[in-house]
Amino acid sequence: RRPDPAAIVIFGASGDLTRRKLMPALYALYTHGLLPQRFAILGFSRRDWSDDDFRTTMRDAVAEFGRVPLDTTQWDEFAARLFYLDAQGYDHLEDYQRLRDRLNTLDETEGTDGNRLFYAATPPQAFVPIVESLGAVGLNQPPREGAWVRLVIEKPFGTDLASARALNARIQHVFDESQIYRIDHYLGKEAVQNLLAFRFANSLFEPIWNRNHIEQVQITVAESIGVENRAGYYDRVGALRDMVQNHLMQLVTLIAMEPPASFDAEAVRNEKVKVLRAIRPFDENAIRTRIVRGQYGPGVVNEKPVRGYREEEGVAPDSTTETYVALQLEIENWRWAGIPFYLRTGKRLPRKVSEIAVIFRRPPLLIFDDQRRRKMEQNVLYLQIQPHEGLSLSVNIKIPGATMRLEPVMMDFCYHGSFEFAIPEAYERLLLDAWLGDATLFIRADETEASWALFTPVLEAWQRMPPPDFPNYAAGTWGPPEADELLARNGHAWKLML
Ligand code: BG6
Repeated sequence: RRPDPAAIVIFGASGDLTRRKLMPALYALYTHGLLPQRFAILGFSRRDWSDDDFRTTMRDAVAEFGRVPLDTTQWDEFAARLFYLDAQGYDHLEDYQRLRDRLNTLDETEGTDGNRLFYAATPPQAFVPIVESLGAVGLNQPPREGAWVRLVIEKPFGTDLASARALNARIQHVFDESQIYRIDHYLGKEAVQNLLAFRFANSLFEPIWNRNHIEQVQITVAESIGVENRAGYYDRVGALRDMVQNHLMQLVTLIAMEPPASFDAEAVRNEKVKVLRAIRPFDENAIRTRIVRGQYGPGVVNEKPVRGYREEEGVAPDSTTETYVALQLEIENWRWAGIPFYLRTGKRLPRKVSEIAVIFRRPPLLIFDDQRRRKMEQNVLYLQIQPHEGLSLSVNIKIPGATMRLEPVMMDFCYHGSFEFAIPEAYERLLLDAWLGDATLFIRADETEASWALFTPVLEAWQRMPPPDFPNYAAGTWGPPEADELLARNGHAWKLML
């Protein structure tokens, strides 16, 4: 199905996200024939650009960051649909009147049929001004019957429960929830979507996908990069808000949710939000004993010496912002009661890897000497999200020979071995879905609020507690020792496939 003709308006068109992600994704969709015949892309930001300036800058961006190589003929066809509107500010009503006129003109010249996809790719302070200004000039409603208007909102969505609620209330005052598409780009990743396919299109694992057979679940989202040039944002935010509250919790919901009755946006999101609401809240004791925070000091990553977080440009020398979090949570429902979910994420870890390890219980009786003598590997299902998408199951087998010696081997599925075509970028899928009007892979208001409800007490407690003894892990290591102790207490240890 091709999406309807439409105009997409990108607020923040001169920003990094547009250059690195949105424009390359739109161009990739175009070259794959996934965009409609008639469309227009209208950049909106404060930079004083003409249509041609916008086109040239975007050409460079696609050449630099695009997944598909730039083809001159195709680019020229695509670029003819790029337009730009220079604004005074995101709350400047006259600009929105000009925007409305411009969109009406594009409906005529480009045949965009009155359909509008507004994309807020700006810093979060601009979200409310954009939404309210759109409402003030009537752009929250389609200009004619049968047309549609949708709003895509980038992260971060709030900084705690109160701000997320306030933001939801103000957006919902102007747009109906069914028009709102909140981005979490992890949901656009191919291997993340495959979690749903794997769980709900196979009969093999679902019967054992519960506390009777699974002993623990681990989610690792590790990055080797540091804070890069984003200290201004990151130092106020930290890893709990930047990664755990959104991306890691989304992974938790997909692993833990009940089978939905259909693959429909409401059915899927109803089940996801139930998971978030079933997680046991963190009380003071849990905050102290089940959540570990870390900050990197100087170290060596990929054989290169790197600075510590406090020495990074734009970071206060006594910053107490966490660049690492490990935690244990419990989902209090019949499927999962008593099963630890361990989550960890951090910057400046040894390498970039996102992986989920589902660890199954040991066999009830160990009949082989070798099994009793050595601590045998349990069956582990590794769901690899990046950089090598795939899944692997460890199975114990007998080593050929005269004695009963056992060893774990891997049953592997790897995307690159099974499919010849390249894996699309997360933003390609998400832009296409928003354009098609499919909200399954977007976050509903109640999901953001449920997740913030869980972590806001943690953020508040951290404010009250004496500052941690940072830095507490060297760049290029797997985080502070307390993260290992968190699992060791239960006789567990972090697992990674490679
Ligand atoms: C973003 C965070 O949401 O996700 C960044 O703000 C982080 O700090 C990034 O680096 C990680 O995304 P990915 O797709 O590289 O895993």
